[in-house]
Amino acid sequence: MAISPSCVLCLLLLIFLQYQSQASDTLTANQQLSTNQKLISQDGNFALGFFKPAEGSNDKWYLGIWYNKIPTQTIVWVANRGKPIFDPVSSNLIISDDGNLVLLADHSKSPIWSTDIKNNTSISSTMAVLNNTGNLVLKHGSNNSTVLWQSFNDFTDTWLPGNKLSRNKKTGAVKRMVSWKNRGDPAPGLFSIQLDSNGSPQYILQWNSSIVYWNTGNWSGNAYTGVPELSPTNMYPNSGYTFQFVDNDVETYFTYTVKNDVQTFTRAIIDVSGLFQSLMWTNATQAWTTFFTQPTVKCSVYGVCGENSKCSENAASSCSCLMGFIEKYPDNWKLDDHTAGCRRKVPLKCGNNDSMHTKQDKFYVIDNVKLPDDAHSINAASAHACELTCLKNCSCIAYSHNGTCWVWYNHLMNLQDNIGGLRDSISIRLDASELPNSGTKKWWIIIIIIGGGGLIVLSFGVTILYFYRRRQRYKSGINHDDGALISFKYRDLQSLTRNFSERLGAGSFGSVFKGVLLDTATVAVKRLESFHQGDKQFRTEVSTIGNIHHINLIRLLGFCSEGVKRLLVYEYMPNGSLDKHLFGSSCTTLSWKMRYQIAVGIAKGLAYLHEECRDSIIHCDIKPENILLDASFVPKVADFGLAKLLGRDFSRVLTSMRGTIGYLAPEWISGEAITIKADVFSYGMVLFEIISGRRNLEHRETSMETFFPVLVARKLLEGEVNSLFGSELTNGVSVELERACKVACWCVQDSETSRPTMGKVVKILEGLVDVEMPPVPRYLNVLAEGSSSTKSSSY
Ligand SMILES: *[C@@H]1O[C@H](CO)[C@@H](O)[C@H](O)[C@H]1NC(C)=O
Ligand SMILES: *[C@@H]1O[C@H](CO)[C@@H](O)[C@H](O)[C@H]1NC(C)=O
Ligand SMILES: *[C@@H]1O[C@H](CO)[C@@H](O)[C@H](O)[C@H]1NC(C)=O
Ligand SMILES: *[C@@H]1O[C@H](CO)[C@@H](O)[C@H](O)[C@H]1NC(C)=O
Ligand SMILES: *[C@@H]1O[C@H](CO)[C@@H](O)[C@H](O)[C@H]1NC(C)=O
Ligand SMILES: *[C@@H]1O[C@H](CO)[C@@H](O)[C@H](O)[C@H]1NC(C)=O
Ligand SMILES: *[C@@H]1O[C@H](CO)[C@@H](O)[C@H](O)[C@H]1NC(C)=O
Ligand SMILES: *[C@@H]1O[C@H](CO)[C@@H](O)[C@H](O)[C@H]1NC(C)=O
Ligand SMILES: *[C@@H]1O[C@H](CO)[C@@H](O)[C@H](O)[C@H]1NC(C)=O
Ligand SMILES: *[C@@H]1O[C@H](CO)[C@@H](O)[C@H](O)[C@H]1NC(C)=O
Ligand SMILES: *[C@@H]1O[C@H](CO)[C@@H](O)[C@H](O)[C@H]1NC(C)=O
Repeated sequence: MAISPSCVLCLLLLIFLQYQSQASDTLTANQQLSTNQKLISQDGNFALGFFKPAEGSNDKWYLGIWYNKIPTQTIVWVANRGKPIFDPVSSNLIISDDGNLVLLADHSKSPIWSTDIKNNTSISSTMAVLNNTGNLVLKHGSNNSTVLWQSFNDFTDTWLPGNKLSRNKKTGAVKRMVSWKNRGDPAPGLFSIQLDSNGSPQYILQWNSSIVYWNTGNWSGNAYTGVPELSPTNMYPNSGYTFQFVDNDVETYFTYTVKNDVQTFTRAIIDVSGLFQSLMWTNATQAWTTFFTQPTVKCSVYGVCGENSKCSENAASSCSCLMGFIEKYPDNWKLDDHTAGCRRKVPLKCGNNDSMHTKQDKFYVIDNVKLPDDAHSINAASAHACELTCLKNCSCIAYSHNGTCWVWYNHLMNLQDNIGGLRDSISIRLDASELPNSGTKKWWIIIIIIGGGGLIVLSFGVTILYFYRRRQRYKSGINHDDGALISFKYRDLQSLTRNFSERLGAGSFGSVFKGVLLDTATVAVKRLESFHQGDKQFRTEVSTIGNIHHINLIRLLGFCSEGVKRLLVYEYMPNGSLDKHLFGSSCTTLSWKMRYQIAVGIAKGLAYLHEECRDSIIHCDIKPENILLDASFVPKVADFGLAKLLGRDFSRVLTSMRGTIGYLAPEWISGEAITIKADVFSYGMVLFEIISGRRNLEHRETSMETFFPVLVARKLLEGEVNSLFGSELTNGVSVELERACKVACWCVQDSETSRPTMGKVVKILEGLVDVEMPPVPRYLNVLAEGSSSTKSSSY
């Protein structure tokens, strides 16, 4: 039987392909990596290959490294950032004759990307290895300990454990991490992080390599002065992290490592909105959890919203175009790249003399803002003179008069919604046609006069009918305790909150506004942000929450689900949140008796959520801000069920908890599964604050010696916990005080099994069950010891 030569070739090719598809971690000189193949690190954690960004509607391909075991595409390195491949079939990665790793694409002979080592005769044969750290290393084929090139030296937007974002002291070369342009485009964006090139031991965040918008502050031997929480002593001891800041003759760098036995992935990135973040993969939620974000005020990122737009700290989409402007690049805008800003819908008339009907430009006033950068002051006695002066100069596009006349030329950058503080207003120049009640106004008047009469009569009738029905429904919703939730129209909520004018606060999930229902009942309306759930699922979850009734849980009255809008209507709590009474400037100081009752009430509410609901509900975000007080100071736990409502997007929750790491159980940090005992930990931390009347974290920043939970834990063992409090507090309440201290200590134990259930906490606090002496929690103990032995700069 004869085998034709072509068949032999087929066979060989087949064998070759099979050999190729067997994933290896090494590419040698006679091999090539094509689009459907990948290198996989020995431990299987990382993969190198060709990818198409998951987001953005494009057909652009890139060579990159990603996590091989994570379902969400997470790219940690990209070779050809700004030079996409359009024809993946004709592309491959090879080792060229001169030993370089090169990416050939789109039938082109010259490489689209190369490791670019200069011709060096000693590079006869090389090989590329993807190692377990996610580093692609080009080595000598003969002597594999010589590193010729490595991807760790070529940062994109990700900082993996073990890598160094360094400055070379001899050459002055500074490594820089640059954000992706948008979520779907790895091309270099405008934001970057690097060590200060003028030599200070600090990292800086920059816009367009020129404007610094945030820095860590100098490394002080133990932490950065601007980010004290990023210190080895502030980390949970079992988190497995080590930090190191190295400053030797050759180079300066910061590096962090994660112990091998921590079964999770950690990375730090500079994201498309200019934020520096640390993230951790959380198995429980199958999502990345953000546990560190800087700057914490996202609007302080320079130019994050581009020109002619406004940045709002508490909105889901923080950037919005000013009136009269639209997004310059809507596609990028959708992918979180707002840096190009907005453009005018209608050009200004100024300088345009060709039309006889040209009207002068007009101004549109925006109140309560933080004024944009680059203001110029000019002489003008009054606001009116200021306006006229601005009108005269075609480059002048806005003015603000606050005693001085400020004007802006050509572009507006970093206009922000003001949250507290100074309340300035700014007048934006627009073409007259862009303003309401001008131009077309007369037409409207005529239409209304002619056709309006009948319409008014008709709509009046309809409105009466409508409100009558509404009233019936409201009544049945509120008066009958049958748990029936009211399904509100968005329009109704708009009107009962007077177009969301009175904001009560901003929580983890969105802002809360005061509203009045039928002129009688006051309600709190929560506008949910960053919502990814469909209408049906939302209704299911909401009805579950609506069915939960307990005196210590806030009552859900209704909801609204319209288009992408999701709102929840709650009963209104006249005394606001617990933090205001504990730490705030509130006039009422809570007596010990009230505080103790509040602690018991919160515990009861949580016990109900954990133990008595059909599907046990983990709150995930217990902190004083989420405990509301009714008219008689009965505590009500708010926001329960929302973590679940928001689906897998726990990272949102945590991002807004930045800085409140003090309430997070260690297992959040180490990426283990979250159980109800995580709530118990947070409750313990809150209980310490209820006892002390001060923030735990506040103490921690000043000196570890006075970190309240540490003091309590120690004094309990020494049997003199009462010595912590003034005599006027301890008189007659020392039993309750000691009980509360013990409970708090038990709640913050490292091991979940040591922490009591909330049901048990209630019994102990009510004196029905005795409580043993708690051991000092290991994590608190290490914290306290760390503070007295932080001398060297490396850990
Ligand atoms: C590199 O050196 C080799 C031999 O030393 C030579 O054949 C080759 O042309 C050189 N390549 C380039 C790009 O200079
Ligand atoms: C060639 O590469 C080796 C190994 O990286 C290096 O030691 C040597 O200095 C290089 N030679 C030239 C001429 O660049
Ligand atoms: C991976 O690369 C880094 C950086 O070159 C190196 O320090 C480390 O030893 C390598 N790990 C392995 C497993 O080769
Ligand atoms: C490196 O080369 C040595 C011999 O030169 C060999 O024993 C070793 O297995 C090689 N290591 C790798 C990772 O290829
Ligand atoms: C491999 O290279 C390293 C450093 O470049 C050198 O110290 C070592 O002696 C070399 N080993 C061999 C077997 O050539
Ligand atoms: C940071 O360190 C540099 C030099 O190391 C020094 O010049 C600078 O003043 C320091 N900055 C602050 C705020 O202390
Ligand atoms: C960034 O800076 C470069 C010059 O360094 C300039 O050409 C470019 O226009 C700047 N980009 C923006 C968006 O201003
Ligand atoms: C428009 O008219 C003004 C004065 O009437 C003149 O100063 C200006 O140069 C003219 N602009 C253009 C673009 O023609
Ligand atoms: C108009 O504004 C520009 C700044 O962009 C300034 O240079 C110019 O002098 C101004 N013109 C007048 C007439 O004030
Ligand atoms: C007016 O606005 C400018 C620019 O924002 C600010 O520097 C100044 O303090 C303000 N003056 C008053 C009186 O508010
Ligand atoms: C997370 O899941 C991966 C894969 O299922 C597993 O290997 C790892 O041990 C898990 N980590 C934790 C902390 O459960």
